[in-house]
Amino acid sequence: MSQPQPVAPEDPTPTSGGGATITPYRDGPLIVRGDFRLLDQDGNAIDPGRGTIALCRCGKSGIKPFCDGSHKRAGFSAPSAPSRPRPADRILQEARGDDASRADTPFGMDPSDTP
Ligand code: FES
Repeated sequence: MSQPQPVAPEDPTPTSGGGATITPYRDGPLIVRGDFRLLDQDGNAIDPGRGTIALCRCGKSGIKPFCDGSHKRAGFSAPSAPSRPRPADRILQEARGDDASRADTPFGMDPSDTP
């Protein structure tokens, strides 16, 4: 049986001016292009193996964090952009640091949440 292979990202649109571009593909992965480093949560480097990568956002990949195309078989559905903005009051609260327990976590995640 063959090993799942990372999905080759489509549309290798170059980034302009350095930095990375992350594009959520409709019903598919997050495509990362440009100058980026991929690290695990302990800060260890993960070799991306290529300059443009597809990161799984469906949770079904056999080679996480990379996409292996399993989202298609799983019927994963998600828009490319948010269907509604994040609640403004929550964004303002995070910006002010009102919720100290979440201030140092990305995207306001609860530190007790573990994958
Ligand atoms: S997004 Fe492609 S396998 Fe999850």
